Amino acid sequence: MGFLMVLRYLVAMKSSSVLATIAMVMISAQALDNANLDGYVPVPPVAIAGQPAAPPPAAASAGQPAAAPPPAIFVFGDGALDVGNNNDLTGGEIGDPDRANHPYYGIDYPGGQASGRFSNGYNIADFIAKDLGFEMSPPAYRSLPDRSPDKMEGFTGVNYASARAGIQDSTFVNTTIPLSTQVENFGETRDRLKALLGGRKPLNMFLSKSLFLIGLGTGMDLIPDSNPFASFFPPKDNKTQVQRLTELLGTTITTMHGMGARKFGIINAGLIGCMPSVQSMYGGLGGDGPCDDDLNRLAAEFNSALGTLLSDLASKLHRFRYSLADFYGFSNATFTNPSASGFANTISACYSGSGKPCSNRAEYWFWDYWYTTEQAAKLAAAAFYSGKRFAMPVNFKRLIAMKG
Ligand SMILES: *[C@@H]1O[C@H](CO)[C@@H](O)[C@H](O)[C@H]1NC(C)=O
Ligand SMILES: *[C@@H]1O[C@H](CO)[C@@H](O)[C@H](O)[C@H]1NC(C)=O
Ligand SMILES: *[C@@H]1O[C@H](CO)[C@@H](O)[C@H](O)[C@H]1NC(C)=O
Repeated sequence: MGFLMVLRYLVAMKSSSVLATIAMVMISAQALDNANLDGYVPVPPVAIAGQPAAPPPAAASAGQPAAAPPPAIFVFGDGALDVGNNNDLTGGEIGDPDRANHPYYGIDYPGGQASGRFSNGYNIADFIAKDLGFEMSPPAYRSLPDRSPDKMEGFTGVNYASARAGIQDSTFVNTTIPLSTQVENFGETRDRLKALLGGRKPLNMFLSKSLFLIGLGTGMDLIPDSNPFASFFPPKDNKTQVQRLTELLGTTITTMHGMGARKFGIINAGLIGCMPSVQSMYGGLGGDGPCDDDLNRLAAEFNSALGTLLSDLASKLHRFRYSLADFYGFSNATFTNPSASGFANTISACYSGSGKPCSNRAEYWFWDYWYTTEQAAKLAAAAFYSGKRFAMPVNFKRLIAMKG
């Protein structure tokens, strides 16, 4: 048997073990209860050399123009930020990559066309880019002619994000572009920029002022069945899954820093146990079931370790600046009181993948089984960009205003 055959076999084996756990999960399943998430320790603001512990009052008041936008945004991560990288990815023995290239994806996007975004309209990479002064997310890496920018004029960055991507290469292997490959792809862009800008010095200047956005909100590494090998051949290092993931992420971010990245905006894992895809593993197809509290706790554990990782990196790496966007906290706050932010439904998918989507899309949190609606993405981006509660130790706006 070839490698992929073995893998496919293991995936099949694992799926049947999921069936066996359904009964247990059903017994312990509770109604949507976000108050009982004791694994989560919110990341306290950490004092870092050259970076104040708490954001001072916003300098710009309403009516004043925003700070100058960064020269570019480089976007990494999962399907919540993908703007078309998965469109022409080829499948393999494991199956086909997810592609948002058909109706009703993009129903609210300009022109009503599918654009590769896993949303009814714009996604969170677009709204963060808009908040920073750009028109929308920079283009998908795989949509560029030659996979490279050909001139600096009009260059706003590159988006490398891919649906189902995890921090580990093994996560949804062969149906996604994992984070390590996304960073390699950025390496190609970087070589090209160095030539276009005229050398290492202007390149480093350019990159040090740019935003490096990493979105991990869908928590792909943590989803059951995303890593079939992990349960069959557990590593013998006595580390927890979260320890392994954060160590690997630390290595990846350090690599990016070595390539010239200085300003990182990082979106943590959301309430992944409430995603309709996960609810549907244990409940009826399409979600509407209770949240999986164990998965939410796992996300909270990961987020707590991520906070520690970033403050450690800030104390070690030269001029490393970051804003940790708390997607988990933002989701929790919204789910606790949906109507306060205009949501009528924070449980089910507006669009199931077949049939028609719901008509009141702006009142839904989930667009499909994994990803949020345009409206949820817009509100989350605003909270991370200029809010005070869900981005630490500073929000994205302050991060951009910092000296590069
Ligand atoms: C989620 O929201 C509830 C209700 O506001 C709050 O009690 C709880 O601490 C929140 N959990 C997290 C992880 O922020
Ligand atoms: C999956 O594997 C096949 C066969 O090796 C390969 O052609 C394809 O490019 C791979 N796709 C991804 C997304 O890795
Ligand atoms: C893992 O833990 C076991 C039991 O405590 C110990 O015998 C073993 O040496 C540990 N392995 C590593 C790599 O630390």
